[in-house]
Amino acid sequence: MCGIVGYLGQQQAETILLEGLSKLEYRGYDSAGICIQKNGELSMSKAKGRLKNLAQELEHHHLEGHAGIGHTRWATHGAPSDINSHPHASMSGNIAVVHNGIIENHNELRSKLQAEGIEFRSATDTEVIPNLIEFYLSKEGGLLKAVARTVKELKGSYALGILSKGEPGQLIAVRKDSPLIVGVGDKERFIASDVPAILKYTKQVVYLDNQEIAVLNADAMNFYDYDLNPLAKDIHEITWTAELAEKGGYDHFTLKEIHEQPKALRDTMTGRIQPGNPIRLDELELTEEQLKAYRRIYIVACGTAYHAGLAGKKAIENLARIPVEVDVASEFRYRNPIVDQATLVIVISQSGETADTLAVLRDAKAKGARVIAVTNVVGSSIARDADDVIYTWAGPEIGVASTKAYLTQLVAMYTLAMKFAEILNISQGSDLDELKSALLNLPEKVEEALAMNEKVRAYAETMFRVHDVYFLGRGLDNVTATEGSLKLKELTYIHSESYPGGELKHGPIALIEDGTVVISPVTQSDLVEKMVSNLHEVKTRGSRNLILTMEKHLDIVRDAADEVFILPDTHDLITPVLAIIPLQLLAYHVSLLKGFDVDKPRNLAKSVTVE
Ligand code: F6R
Repeated sequence: MCGIVGYLGQQQAETILLEGLSKLEYRGYDSAGICIQKNGELSMSKAKGRLKNLAQELEHHHLEGHAGIGHTRWATHGAPSDINSHPHASMSGNIAVVHNGIIENHNELRSKLQAEGIEFRSATDTEVIPNLIEFYLSKEGGLLKAVARTVKELKGSYALGILSKGEPGQLIAVRKDSPLIVGVGDKERFIASDVPAILKYTKQVVYLDNQEIAVLNADAMNFYDYDLNPLAKDIHEITWTAELAEKGGYDHFTLKEIHEQPKALRDTMTGRIQPGNPIRLDELELTEEQLKAYRRIYIVACGTAYHAGLAGKKAIENLARIPVEVDVASEFRYRNPIVDQATLVIVISQSGETADTLAVLRDAKAKGARVIAVTNVVGSSIARDADDVIYTWAGPEIGVASTKAYLTQLVAMYTLAMKFAEILNISQGSDLDELKSALLNLPEKVEEALAMNEKVRAYAETMFRVHDVYFLGRGLDNVTATEGSLKLKELTYIHSESYPGGELKHGPIALIEDGTVVISPVTQSDLVEKMVSNLHEVKTRGSRNLILTMEKHLDIVRDAADEVFILPDTHDLITPVLAIIPLQLLAYHVSLLKGFDVDKPRNLAKSVTVE
């Protein structure tokens, strides 16, 4: 996820672009850049790091001009650096482009252009776009035709802002699967990934739909499909406040990110999982001999990422039949673990900067182990230091409590487990195919689970004043119970604990009294009956039980429940992806009912870079 903005009109573009980018930093913040056009000439300024670095640079070297494009980056292809920052220019410098999205066939396009003598400067997927446009410019006769020809060749997602030396006073925008709006002012035009970037200047916008091209001049605008048929587009009036707009219409980043989960899952699975085909993890070169030679596999992480590791262990053990140990990084690093060249360590970290996880990675590498990192941040310390990196494509997570990153971590771990099984030829192809299909269906099922929002809110109203909540689960449901408990305590400050269902009678059951709230995911077919009998044990002692289960288990669980949330059905191994959703929503609603700052809970930081 990146943010793009563009301007064409009478005012100095630099100021407008910088202001716009400052409103889009939530979409990415590892580097930023602008390109300004004056008398046809295109001038760029780019800086690695937060937008303030670019602003400082521009304070010393202003770029004058009344047209420009800007970008704030969340790296996908190519680490954050000045050279990989957008805008990107064609080799001759005649075309400049900002891009939000991922070009899936960039390698193929790069080779084609290199064969024509075109040289590339950056490691980005984006750089093929200005070069392809320029390549077609002479062949197609005119910028618009060259752009239309180019976008037909691109596979993947993109929102583009395009300037050309040859067509001063014109800004072209294109959208496919990444958001882009056109702002309409008095003799001025804007483009932006999101409304807040331009709200100060105009409330009149045109929403570009997929596969649409906008050709903007200060006093005209025209819209086309990819065959250059003209399109009639409506202008809409924005009624949101600037603050609300930044959150895409949601009240809080946490809720927005919970709702972004279907997209985050799709992005994380795209290109990797396809039924009937082997898992594609091109970033991981691991042979059968190498995998068999590892005598130990550890998964190490902190907090929510550790919970994804717990599910990862179950998946690897089930599918690839390799024993795996999971530990929290702050414990692992000081327990004198057995780590050597025959050890494979998998670290999981959203931020890629968590101090304990990073220390484990570095210690393990120093002892000769191989380290695979599952992380969300390209160019982060963990991504840079690991031997192999599997990115989760959740996009920036702003809410302190991890939500969408967790779901993508789970899916990345399932993908890795299937990869291991395929390398070792262990699981039956048909079993894996069934799992792959189930995974690919998850985004829609997550949408279904999100539709429970109102029901969850109503339940939250019945229990938000309690002082203690107990989460119980067996098998993979214990992973969900543990993560659900963490979400509740960090967002609502309610004391909560999670226990494996069978462990209860070894002590914790003493805590259950009249009215105690017990929450239990019950999704594991082979454990339903056992879990239900544990739930009867607490109910008999006065607990109020909320059970999260599938329709197919309802008959068995009904009597043990005071309240039931029905989850969409899926493969047993991946139920944690769905079962956590009502628990994320519950923590969110309880936090609001208690009047807390849900995006920034007390005492917590988004990135824990100290021990
Ligand atoms: C909980 C949460 C934390 C993080 C933990 C690890 O909602 O966000 O528990 O999961 O601090 O952070 P990363 O994944 O950045 O290493």
